[in-house]
Amino acid sequence: MAALWLSPNPPGRRTRPGAKLREVFRMKLRLPPSPAILRFSFAVVACAFMTQPVRPQTPAEVEKHIANLPPEQRAYERYRFWRTSLPPDQQKDSKIEARYREYLVAHGFSETDADAQLKLIDEHGERSEVERWNRILTSDKPIFNTQPNAFLMEIVKTRKPGTALDVGMGQGRNSIWLAQQGWDVTGFDPAEKAVALAEENARKLGVHFNAQIKRSEDFDFGERRWDLILVSYAGGREMPAVLEKALKPGGVLVIEAFHRDATKLGPIGGAVVFDTGELPALYPELRVVRYEEPLAIADFGLEKMRLVRYCAERPE
Ligand SMILES: C[S@@+](CC[C@H](N)C(=O)[O-])C[C@H]1O[C@@H](n2cnc3c(N)ncnc32)[C@H](O)[C@@H]1O
Repeated sequence: MAALWLSPNPPGRRTRPGAKLREVFRMKLRLPPSPAILRFSFAVVACAFMTQPVRPQTPAEVEKHIANLPPEQRAYERYRFWRTSLPPDQQKDSKIEARYREYLVAHGFSETDADAQLKLIDEHGERSEVERWNRILTSDKPIFNTQPNAFLMEIVKTRKPGTALDVGMGQGRNSIWLAQQGWDVTGFDPAEKAVALAEENARKLGVHFNAQIKRSEDFDFGERRWDLILVSYAGGREMPAVLEKALKPGGVLVIEAFHRDATKLGPIGGAVVFDTGELPALYPELRVVRYEEPLAIADFGLEKMRLVRYCAERPE
């Protein structure tokens, strides 16, 4: 996803979103007013993330960055940047639509323009989120770690290959690596271009895995089905009971995401941000094998920041 978050500025020096908007907002849409964008809130809260090495950090930078996107994606990216700049708990505010409208109007948009943007977000937000990931994950200048996740590699070292599920697999870096280690892998993601790239790369490398274009909400996780479930920078808070049930006894859940401290460096979507000790508490049926909150280079963002790394096993 081309845009949000982590700042090149040190903590505390971040430019407040909105500060420069007046001078850069020029969008003049002529569409009728529109209602609720809450319906697709999941898109931002459900996933929420990453950016490029030189990440847009101010509204002005965002405007420059999104200038060539179609209007609905521009409206979405502008909204997404604003929303992920809020503290994670506020990103789920039930009055988020009204708040954003006020923000737009306060920063130079007419009421008609603001309503037009909300309508675009409401109607195309879900698709725009997918397009964002298609752009980021298939870029010929990747701004994320294209190698397998290091924590996953450590965990897998000591485990016998079995069935693995890669939730929100992106362009397949982890699925492909697991398949190369002899695992029977299924990966899914709604970003169809990323999934196509994963399949193409797997083919070139002569490995097979089952890749599906799907969202977590639509995927049948099954019961006692997986020896390993990976959620790498793709959430982990949404359906704990489903994941617990989907693991085979003895199977492990592996999650890497951001610690809340990382949000001091710039916007990150709430769905991939966890508080101290939150993950172990989320999965009461699992036995923690490893849990860390290290300062490390994030796979998405490629900067040193506080992460969460969680591996837990379903008891036999
Ligand atoms: C930061 S990327 C991580 C990709 C991959 N897990 C990795 O570590 O390389 C987040 C991924 O979550 C996917 N995603 C977004 N919404 C999703 C949803 N509702 N269900 C499953 N995956 C989703 C995005 O398309 C994107 O590929």
